[in-house]
Amino acid sequence: MTTKNKIRVGFKNLLVTGGCGFIGSNFIRYLIDKGNFSGRIINVDKLTYAGNPENLADIASDFAPGYIFQKVDICDAAKLEEVFSQYDVDAVCHFAAESHVDRSIKTPGDFIQTNIIGTFNLLEIAKARGDKFKLFHHVSTDEVYGSLGAEGLFREDTPYRPNSPYSASKAASDHLVRAYYKTFGLPATISNCSNNYGPYQFPEKLIPLMVLNALKGKPLPVYGDGKNVRDWLYVEDHCEAIWTIMNSGRTGETYNVGGNAEIENILIVQMICDILDEIKPAADVKPRRQLITFVQDRPGHDRRYAIDFAKLNTELGWSPHESFKSGLRKTVEWYLNQKKWVENIKTGAYQKWIEEQYGS
Ligand code: NAD
Ligand code: TYD
Repeated sequence: MTTKNKIRVGFKNLLVTGGCGFIGSNFIRYLIDKGNFSGRIINVDKLTYAGNPENLADIASDFAPGYIFQKVDICDAAKLEEVFSQYDVDAVCHFAAESHVDRSIKTPGDFIQTNIIGTFNLLEIAKARGDKFKLFHHVSTDEVYGSLGAEGLFREDTPYRPNSPYSASKAASDHLVRAYYKTFGLPATISNCSNNYGPYQFPEKLIPLMVLNALKGKPLPVYGDGKNVRDWLYVEDHCEAIWTIMNSGRTGETYNVGGNAEIENILIVQMICDILDEIKPAADVKPRRQLITFVQDRPGHDRRYAIDFAKLNTELGWSPHESFKSGLRKTVEWYLNQKKWVENIKTGAYQKWIEEQYGS
């Protein structure tokens, strides 16, 4: 092993950006609840509509001062600098982003600001810490590679061909991270992951949106012909992959992360209907598949994503544990059991709480 790819030990003060979002909160839970990290975690989040402190309420009360939350916009370089120096940050795991393709079509400006400028700010501040700084891990998406036809898989050397403002902004951020490694020697790793699902996902994304609509007997809007294919990864498997890369991945490298679970959207929606019919039969709508409504396609809708994660598997021994069938059932059950969490999101109560705590 060279110095560059030996196992890293002992981040002391890990800054997690976007830790109140879906994957970030699962990641913090994975590190703290499961005892995978004994250092200090500083969670920096702007608390946009997608950031919900309730996702980590138990951790915030049980793990302080090992867990610290700071409401900070990563576009605010001065505030970020304060946080880095106050907490002597020596590693970053960067999740914070505007993450929804449909929103990026309507309001691309936020995506450019947060995903590109925000990442640039973090890189500059990390660079300025010099030798004290151990690792910048950038969490990215397989969408940077564009769209596949019926055959083939995205590999780490697949050319970037982003098609939406979201994926273009993530591609730009990936390039910045790579450039800071190449030009300035900033220790960095990147992961490009397929679609995640699991607990705490904001109900604008396919799976939670369909679960909650189906429960209410509302239409289930399937874009286009419903035959677009995504590869799906259970969020905890993603967290494990990130932590594996952060600890033993080679600096300067990109690793693809996937779930071995390619499936057409329409089949997922049908599976959700069937699970709900079984565990929560509806009095009026039987079967729930009747709710499926084909709607106008998303502009520039990528047809198929599929991931080759052989590099992560052969170099670092990672592979996903969860099958899509069992992961989907667990996820549906989680949403059924989280009535308060769902209600707080649907009524906007979580945002009122944030305003009361932090001002608008
Ligand atoms: P999310 O939308 O659920 O959460 C994003 C979090 O970032 C929120 O807590 C939000 O408040 C915070 N945030 C947004 N703008 C910010 C800013 N300017 N400053 C500080 N915080 C800010 O997203 P997610 O699904 O958890 O995705 C996390 C990361 O993983 C993103 O970088 C995304 O591109 C990447 N990713 C997501 C998926 C997926 O399927 N969800 C797949 C691959 C990669
Ligand atoms: P989404 O969860 O938005 O993730 P991404 O666009 O990053 O893949 O969408 C997953 C797939 O589901 C995508 O092909 C678009 C489709 N989709 C629908 O058909 N209906 C919907 O209401 C949503 C939100 C998504």
